[in-house]
Formats: sequence, structure tokens, C-alpha cells
Amino acid sequence: MSNEKIQVLIVDDIAETRENIRKLLQFENDVEVVGAARSGKEAIQLTKETRPDVVLMDINMPDMDGITATEKIKQILPYVQIVILSVQNDPNYMRRAMMAGARDFLAKPPTVDELTAAIRRAGKMALAEKSKLEAVAAVTTGGGSSVATGGPSRQGKVILVYSPKGGVGCTTLATNLAITLHNPDTPTVLVDVNLQFGDVGVFLNEQPRNTILDLAPRVDELENEVLEEVLITHNASGVKVLAAPTRPEYAENITGEQITKILQYLRRMFSYIIVDSSSTLTDPVISALDEMDAVVLITTQDIPSIKSARIFLDLLDVMKIERERVFLTVNMFDRRIAGITPERISENFRLPVSGVIPLERSIVVPAVNRGIPFMLKDKSNPLAQRILALAGEIRRKLTELEKAQSGI
Ligand SMILES: Nc1ncnc2c1ncn2[C@@H]1O[C@H](COP(=O)(O)OP(=O)(O)O)[C@@H](O)[C@H]1O
Ligand SMILES: [Mg+2]
Repeated sequence: MSNEKIQVLIVDDIAETRENIRKLLQFENDVEVVGAARSGKEAIQLTKETRPDVVLMDINMPDMDGITATEKIKQILPYVQIVILSVQNDPNYMRRAMMAGARDFLAKPPTVDELTAAIRRAGKMALAEKSKLEAVAAVTTGGGSSVATGGPSRQGKVILVYSPKGGVGCTTLATNLAITLHNPDTPTVLVDVNLQFGDVGVFLNEQPRNTILDLAPRVDELENEVLEEVLITHNASGVKVLAAPTRPEYAENITGEQITKILQYLRRMFSYIIVDSSSTLTDPVISALDEMDAVVLITTQDIPSIKSARIFLDLLDVMKIERERVFLTVNMFDRRIAGITPERISENFRLPVSGVIPLERSIVVPAVNRGIPFMLKDKSNPLAQRILALAGEIRRKLTELEKAQSGI
């Protein structure tokens, strides 16, 4: 037990407030500030990275308000205790904050005594909850490290491969990107959230023995062993696969909440979680959207596809998803189609094009029909080179974004 201090994360969009709180706490021997976040989203990210005991949470923030962030943090690390700091002493806010799982409520600006007293109370509570969870984990995993409460765990990135229009190459790109990103250092899992007509299994020539249907009812008792039982291994690449149900009518048995829980758990086991999805924004797809770190947004060189992708981009804006997380990709690119070039698409979207994947029927179609993804074959052709470049860009950007977030 090298560190018995209460670890505190400060969340406020105003730099001065963050600094003031930090100053108030600097002489408290039993309190350590482990990070400061500028928004609700950053708070979630930093909670995952620093695993604090107590979060001091502002309410009004630009991308995600403190109440929503509280709710999400409690889902990810239930033992974390959240103290809301707000100028609003509206009882309605207070009630919502409490319902979201907040432990305490302080008016801004707090005195040092109020603040330390609240932190100590919350810290004690966090410790108690943590040991409770550890006890449960020890029973269910037969000792060893508990995934839920600490120990080394990955912080895998969820990458959604999406297009609002069907048939533009989502599954083709999802399978080949997963194979490209997978290696012993960055183990990768491919999740088929096209729940009605998922065909990841077909693309990989794998008969799924188990599917997401076997996992969904067990989302509240997930353990590595359970996942290992249900995930199938694509032998030719080593990529793990969570397959879609074998029949469309089973899709409705799976809820968005179950998808959230599954994706959150997979983050601990894998570096990259590639999600192939249907175009229809079903609850499970929206849950994947909420959970994702990046989206590969695919369009082709035709107006309906471009139009739908633009509408989707507006939706991402409403959801406050940063543009840096969108990897706009033109698939089936054909230079002979004049007028709609990647440059024009980029201008139109006001977004750089991250990938331009050529139309190569002679490679793509036989690969799908044989169930042998083309990235397992010759990588010297332009198609494979473009996939390598896109995967490289995704790796680089996600690492950059993560660094930027932790370096506040
Ligand atoms: N770059 C490409 N060049 C040629 N054909 C492609 C390319 N990408 C996808 N295809 C073909 O387009 C069809 C639809 O692809 P698919 O990945 O199933 O799309 P989606 O998952 O978006 O419905 C498949 O027959 C696939 O072989
Ligand atoms: Mg598909």
C-alpha cells in the first residue's frame, strides 16, 4: 500500500476554478489531486486512466454536463464517489445529481473545511466500496487481480465502422482494419453490431458457435473467462470475433445497455474494439456510438451516400463528438468518376479525408466469397497499401488524442 492518500480528480471547465481547488487542497496531507479535466468527456477519460477515489464535479460544462458524466463514471467505476460543486442550489439539480449517483453536493466556492470534510467522507466511502467489490471479485474470479477495481487493465479504443447507407463497404473495411490493427501488442476484437444481418462471420469464413446472444444475458457478470468462452478466434489472423445472432428475429433480444456493457468490458481485454454496424440507428448502434473513441465514416462517390454521411456528421455534432474522432473514408474510389474527388468531398464536409480506398472488384469480391480477407494476402497492391495507411492514421491519431487528454 504505497499510497493511502485520497485520490481526487477535479472537473471544471474554468481553469481558474480548477487551480483554486487545487490550491485549497495542496496542504492536505491525506489528499492527492491526480488530475484535472475540463469537461464531462475528459472527466470520464481521466477517471479511466487515473482511477480516483473522489471526483469533484462541476455541473455546467460544454461537451457533457456533470450530471451525465457522473452517471457514466458510476457505470465505469462504481466505487468512485462524486461530489458535485455548483453555483446552482436548485433542489431539482440536486435531486438529478443524486439520482445520477452523486454522493455529496457543495455550493461554489466551497471553504477549505467544507471541501476537505466532503472529500474525507467520500474517500472513506470509496475505500469501503472498493474493498466490497474486491471481495466479490475475489470470490467470482477465484482470487487474482480484479478487473473491476484495479490492477493493470487496458484502456482499449472502440472504433465504429459506419455508413448511413448500406452496401458501401463497412464490413469489408471493418474486417480488414481489424486484421491490420491486430498484433501481439495491440490485440483486437471485432464486434458485429449489425444484429439482424451481421455477416462478419461470412467475411471471415467462421461458423459462429457462440454469438452475442450468449453474452447479452450475462452482461452483469462479465469476466475474462466468460468472454473467452463466447468469442471466436479467426484462426488465420488471431483476431477475436463477437458474432451477430444467427437469425434476424433474435436481434431484438439485445438491448443498447447490453452493448454498452459488453464494449466497456472488451476495453479491458483488447487494445482495439472494431465495431461493424448496420446503417439503421438502432438502440444497440446508438450505444456503440456513445461508447466509441473514433468512427470510420464511409462514403462512396455518389450523392445519396455523401448526403447521408453529411447528415450523420451533423448528428455527431449534436452528440458533441469531436471532429478529430471522425475518420472520413471514401471507399470504392474510382478516378474515372469526375467531379466527386476526395478533395471535393473533404471541402464539402470541412473535414480531411483519412482514407481513400480504391475500387478493386478483382481483389475484394473473391476475398469475400472465399472468406479470406484480402489483408491476409499480398499487401503490395494499392488497395492493401491504402488500408495500411488508414490503419496507421487511426493508430497515430488515437494515440495523439489520448496524450493530449492526459497531458492537461
Ligand atoms: N473497395 C472495394 N472495391 C470493390 N468492391 C468493394 C469494395 N469495398 C466493398 N466492396 C464490395 O461491396 C459489397 C458491399 O460491401 P460490404 O462490406 O458488405 O458493405 P456494407 O457492410 O456497408 O453493407 C461487397 O460485395 C464487397 O465485396
Ligand atoms: Mg455489412
